[in-house]
Amino acid sequence: MGEQQEILDASNALIMPNYGSPLLAMVRGEGSRIWDADGKEYIDFFAGFGGGGVSGHCHPVIVEAIRAQAGKLLSHGNFFTNVPQVELARSITDHAFGGKVFFCHSGGEANEAAIKLVRLAAGEGRYKIISFHDCFHGRTMGGLSLTPEPKQLGFEPMLPGNVMVDYGDLEGVRAAIDEETAAVFVEPIQGEGGVNVPTIEFMQGLRALCDENDVLLVCDEVWTAPARTGQWFAYQHYGITPDVMTMAKAIGGGVPVGACLAASKYQDVLGPGKHGCTMGGNPLCAAAGAACMKLIEEQNLVELAAKKGDAVTGMLTDAAISCVREVRGKGLMIGIEVDKSAKDVFATGIERGLLVCLAGEHVVRLAPPVIIEDDLLEKGMEILIDILKA
Ligand SMILES: Cc1ncc(COP(=O)(O)O)c(C=O)c1O
Repeated sequence: MGEQQEILDASNALIMPNYGSPLLAMVRGEGSRIWDADGKEYIDFFAGFGGGGVSGHCHPVIVEAIRAQAGKLLSHGNFFTNVPQVELARSITDHAFGGKVFFCHSGGEANEAAIKLVRLAAGEGRYKIISFHDCFHGRTMGGLSLTPEPKQLGFEPMLPGNVMVDYGDLEGVRAAIDEETAAVFVEPIQGEGGVNVPTIEFMQGLRALCDENDVLLVCDEVWTAPARTGQWFAYQHYGITPDVMTMAKAIGGGVPVGACLAASKYQDVLGPGKHGCTMGGNPLCAAAGAACMKLIEEQNLVELAAKKGDAVTGMLTDAAISCVREVRGKGLMIGIEVDKSAKDVFATGIERGLLVCLAGEHVVRLAPPVIIEDDLLEKGMEILIDILKA
């Protein structure tokens, strides 16, 4: 039996089956490539559901920041603070809309913080949240309560009063808002739902509706931030500013960092004793996050994401692939809607040494690291185009 099979068997015996049986056991990553336990190499356009992020695997700058911090201090508890946490918060606030940050480890936790924050900010009796069909806000009970039904099944009852409206349906939002509404949660590009890009009018209309009704606008940027879409944060494509923004995945440069940013008006709502996360903002993870943000600045990864995204879209258009119905997205967050099974494309990709991501039955999702070399991007695209044409 190969080494990989042994690991997979052990995993099946010991790890809960909520992700299904693992397909591969991964042992090493470098830039845009990753290797399994049998030594097979893959070009990684999947980025671990976006978690590998913009900086790719084991970026030397991030590894060095982790190494240096690991030798100094790993954690200390949140009666205290640390320099990497402050640096990361400064970078996020500088590139977004000021305010203050709460740190945790995941997108789910960042959204939980946002749910609690909007309830407090909106005031007594206002607790309802409006979200959108095809959205995804995580697997915690709060995030699940905002996420469409199939994922909720078996876990009911959800948080009460939430309303789901079609993505893009401003009149639906207007009709759904009442005096008990606290917030609207929106992904500025829907990820899991199929890489759906809203119009500028819709996002600006949402902002206006929230202002008119004194309702908070929360942008869930867990997939889209930072840099991936060709802006630091995807809300910046639409000329609006949310009241609250949640982040995770790529912001940690490959290690777990979640963050909830509140605009200055709401920055002190989660006052002492109102929320917490024991290891949130620990110096090790914060050092990786701060290094990742610095890398984005220094290597201009925001512009690079836009440029490389155009290159990928161009390659797909030039290839004129008959099964491709639509290519959509922004920057290097790209959805290819196909009239064949996206799962089959994913499976053939694994055989051919290419990892892609899925979003539903008919959307192949691409999220290569922004630092990917041009030749590797072209090689990966050649494999993908070949698979799509077959
Ligand atoms: C938009 C969005 N929000 C929240 C989450 C949940 O993040 P996590 O898995 O880190 O809890 C995800 C995960 O894919 C996501 O795409």
